[in-house]
Amino acid sequence: MNAIEITGLCKQFTGKRMKKVNALKQLDLTIAAGEVFGFLGPNGAGKSTTIKLVMGLLLPTSGTASIMGMDVSRAESRRCVGYLPENPAFYDYLSAEEYIDFVGSQFNMEKALLAQRSEVVLRRLDLWDARKRPMRGYSKGMVQRVGVAQTLVHDPDVYILDEPMSGLDPIGRALVKDIILDLKKRGKCVFFSTHITDDVEKVCDRVGVINKGELLVVDSVENIVQSGVEGYTVHVMNPDGDKNEHFVVKADLQAFIQQSVIKGQSIEIIEPRRKDMEAFFLEVVAS
Ligand SMILES: Nc1ncnc2c1ncn2[C@@H]1O[C@H](COP(=O)(O)OP(=O)(O)O)[C@@H](O)[C@H]1O
Ligand SMILES: [Mg+2]
Repeated sequence: MNAIEITGLCKQFTGKRMKKVNALKQLDLTIAAGEVFGFLGPNGAGKSTTIKLVMGLLLPTSGTASIMGMDVSRAESRRCVGYLPENPAFYDYLSAEEYIDFVGSQFNMEKALLAQRSEVVLRRLDLWDARKRPMRGYSKGMVQRVGVAQTLVHDPDVYILDEPMSGLDPIGRALVKDIILDLKKRGKCVFFSTHITDDVEKVCDRVGVINKGELLVVDSVENIVQSGVEGYTVHVMNPDGDKNEHFVVKADLQAFIQQSVIKGQSIEIIEPRRKDMEAFFLEVVAS
């Protein structure tokens, strides 16, 4: 079964002076169970709008969405979801531990299991030592980590995360990436948005690029990275021991190697030179 199915989803807002804003135009997208999908787009692209529609927090102008086969207009569709909103803000007189308890109780978790899971997630997000302090004293990064922790407590099968790495320092970003990779290993589905290409490259199976409410490309990270290979930097050593580097375009690699052998050169390293995800993203968004 697909974890998330989005069909013809549109959202029009009425902005200032009754100006119509088409925040999302005819989005069709299917995310498989067990897939990690990165929803990549610049600010204002329509990522949060999409996520809020899928979470039933906004009503679509037209189109439908379902989670695990259940239409998102039904509250039950969200029982198997861990959701991180953009810029999470919590009742800040609560401590992280109290908040995690509150979330677990919303999912009718049994007390002993909740206590056990609460410890696991607070430790995992490096919040254990701060767990009893009111969240009003937390840094932005700590609040973001509470946001991630509360998605994990009931161990759902689907994770919908709006900019999960935002507001985190490099250690926090690495931690969240690691958590996403763990979820992937356990066969969970993760749908997350970001505007940073580096976030998607290492963790995603597929990436969708959205700009101005339109989904422009959906492809596997593997394809994007492979198709980005422009050529190779070849390091050769001449018979006299001199070393050189040559840039060779993709089509000429075989011929270059043969020529080198004839000249008695030895090839030390062949490095693919590729457009990175950033260049790919900028190109797609600019076109
Ligand atoms: N409640 C709203 N009223 C009017 N316009 C909105 C509203 N929410 C979002 N928008 C507009 O919709 C577009 C998409 O916004 P959003 O989905 O938040 O983008 P992203 O999350 O990709 O940065 C933007 O142009 C934004 O200004
Ligand atoms: Mg957003």
